[in-house]
Amino acid sequence: MNIVILTGAGVSAESGLQTFRGADGLWEGHRVEDVATPDAFGRNPELVQRFYNERRARLLDGTVHPNPAHLALARLEREYPGQVLLITQNIDDLHDRAGSKNLLHLHGELLKCRCVVCAHTGEVRTDLTARSICPECDSTGTLRPDIVWFGEMPYHLDEISAALQRADLFVSIGTSGSVYPAAGFVAMAARNQASTLELNLEATSREFRDRRMGPASEVVPLWVAEVLGK
Ligand code: APR
Repeated sequence: MNIVILTGAGVSAESGLQTFRGADGLWEGHRVEDVATPDAFGRNPELVQRFYNERRARLLDGTVHPNPAHLALARLEREYPGQVLLITQNIDDLHDRAGSKNLLHLHGELLKCRCVVCAHTGEVRTDLTARSICPECDSTGTLRPDIVWFGEMPYHLDEISAALQRADLFVSIGTSGSVYPAAGFVAMAARNQASTLELNLEATSREFRDRRMGPASEVVPLWVAEVLGK
């Protein structure tokens, strides 16, 4: 069986990273349009860099670790005899740290940067500022987080669309399904006769054939054990 899994902020919530759509509609105190759009970066690059610098520092402060949900998904990939593709909307590296390899970051990565002049991409573990210098073209202040902002094209869409056509089972974990194209993956998979399963604290859509409600750190390891027959 071919399994395609989509994860969102809910899978990292129990690692201590905030989800996007909290009760106040703000992301860490900011309106999304003020920090996660190319316009915002053009208008106020300092604010946008500071915002992502804070997120990056939090990710690396030594207290944020993969939780049992990340670890179970890595185990599934290792031990399952069929294909497992993990697509994440998360910009954190917790699936990577847990050991997932067949992993696509749909919305980019907080620990990568990209030069807006020469398109060089590289790792970044410290702050990006107006004084940061691109190691490839030597331009100053041109490095931005390699994150897909609203209005930009998500990564790996061709590969994902091909995988969804081959999928026998599509599983969505900890995502509100409010951002396209990811929100449309369940319909694409179902059109190709895949079974569909949602794992979340609450049901987000009627499009899934099956659902298990509960915290990711509990329901994901249980589901993985079931699939592995253990
Ligand atoms: N276990 C399981 N699910 C959880 C948990 C948990 N412990 N905590 C929260 N959730 C669920 C919520 O019920 C919600 O459905 O996780 C989901 C989080 O939704 P969002 O905050 O909207 O995050 P996400 O779906 O990943 O957002 C998608 O939007 O802002 C953009 O680019 C950003 O990648 C992000 C995209």
